[in-house]
Amino acid sequence: MFSRVLITGGSGFIGSNFIRHFLAARPDAHLTNVDALTYSGNRENLRDLEHDPRYTFIHADICDAERMRDLFSTADALIHFAAESHVDRSILDTRPFIRTNVLGTQTLLDAAVACKLKRFVQISTDEVYGSLPLDRPELRFNEDSAIKPNSPYAASKAASDMLVRAAHHTFGLNTSITRCSNNFGPYQFPEKVIPLFVTNLIENKKVPLYGDGLNVRDWIHVEDHCEAILAVLERGRSGEVYNIGADNEQSNLDLTRSILHILGKGDEFIRHVEDRLGHDRRYAIDSTKIRRELGWSASRSAWPDALISTVDWYIKNPDWWQRIKSGTYREFHDKLYASRPSAVGH
Ligand code: NAD
Ligand code: TYD
Repeated sequence: MFSRVLITGGSGFIGSNFIRHFLAARPDAHLTNVDALTYSGNRENLRDLEHDPRYTFIHADICDAERMRDLFSTADALIHFAAESHVDRSILDTRPFIRTNVLGTQTLLDAAVACKLKRFVQISTDEVYGSLPLDRPELRFNEDSAIKPNSPYAASKAASDMLVRAAHHTFGLNTSITRCSNNFGPYQFPEKVIPLFVTNLIENKKVPLYGDGLNVRDWIHVEDHCEAILAVLERGRSGEVYNIGADNEQSNLDLTRSILHILGKGDEFIRHVEDRLGHDRRYAIDSTKIRRELGWSASRSAWPDALISTVDWYIKNPDWWQRIKSGTYREFHDKLYASRPSAVGH
C-alpha cells in the first residue's frame, strides 16, 4: 500500500476516473494530481473533490524538472497518465507528443531516480504494438509482442516505454508498465470516437466514420482499467509489463450502429469520410498475464449495458461537453474535418 501517491495528468479522462476510484478504494491515502491543464485537461472533472483534504491539485508541466523534483521528495509512488493522447492530432503536429510523452516522461524518470521513489507506474497503450490483420482473428497482443508503433502518437508512447524500461534496468527503479486497449466512459474528451459520436447525435448532427468503418478496436470501460491500474500499482512486479483488455472487439461500423440504435437514429446519420492516414486495422489484447498474476478481470465492460450507461452519462451531462465543444475544441475540430472531405460514393 502507498499512502502518498502522485498522479500526472489526473485532470484528463482516465486520470480523473482513477483519482475518484483510488480515493474511494483507499480512504486513508493522500493523492496529488500534477496537471498542466492542456486542451484535454479539465478541473471540472474533479470538482467534487476540490475540498477533499485527501486531494491536492498542482498546476505544473511534467517537463519542469525542478518542480517535479520538489514534488517527488514527498511522494511514495507515481502513476504517470499525462500525455498527448489523440492519434489525429499527432498526425497534424507530432512535436507536442515528443515534448510531453518522451521528454516529459524522461523528466519524471530523472526525478524518480534522484529522489529514490519507491514505485513508478507508466500508463501506456496497446497501440505501441501496431496493427493486427482482420483475417487472423486468433492473433492478439501479449506482453512479448513486438513493439511496432504506426502513428506518431503510438511511436511517442513506445519511446517513453523504452525509457521506463531503461530506468529500471540501469538505475533499478521499481517500475511497471500497463498497456490498455481503447477506453470508454464518463468524462472522455469529445474528440475520441465514442463521446464525439454520442454528442453529435444528441445534437442531431451526423457522425464522421473513417474509411470503410471495418477497423476493429477492443473496448474496455474506464472503471475496469482503473481497477487494473490499482492492482498493478500495489501488486505488480518490478520491471514487468501488463496488458489490460476486456475481450470486447467491435468494428467501428458496429460500434456506430450500436450508438445510433441506443439514441433511436438510423444509418442516415453516418457520414462516410476519408480514412485516417496510416489507420491501424485492428487492436486486440491478450490479458492472461494480469488475470493470472494479479487476479484482475474486467467486470464492467460488457456490451451493450456498459455502452448504454455511458451514452446515458453524456445525455445527463450536457453542460460538461457543451462547454468543451463550444470552446477551443471547436477550432481543432474544424481544421481536422475541413481537410477530410466526404469519401466518394457515400
Ligand atoms: P487525456 O488527453 O484525456 O488526458 C491527458 C491529461 O494529461 C490532461 O489532463 C492534460 O492536461 C495532461 N497533460 C498533457 N500534457 C501535460 C504536461 N506536459 N504536463 C502535465 N500534464 C499534461 O488522455 P486519457 O485518454 O485520459 O489518457 C491518459 C493516459 O492513458 C495517456 O498516457 C494515454 O496514452 C493512456 N491510454 C489511453 C487510452 C484511451 O483509450 N484513452 C487507452 C490506453 C492508454
Ligand atoms: P479514437 O477514439 O481516436 O481512438 P484510437 O485511434 O486511439 O483507437 O478512434 C477509435 C476508432 O474510431 C479509430 O479506428 C478511428 C475511428 N474514428 C472514426 O471513424 N471517426 C472519428 O471521427 C474518430 C475520432 C475516430
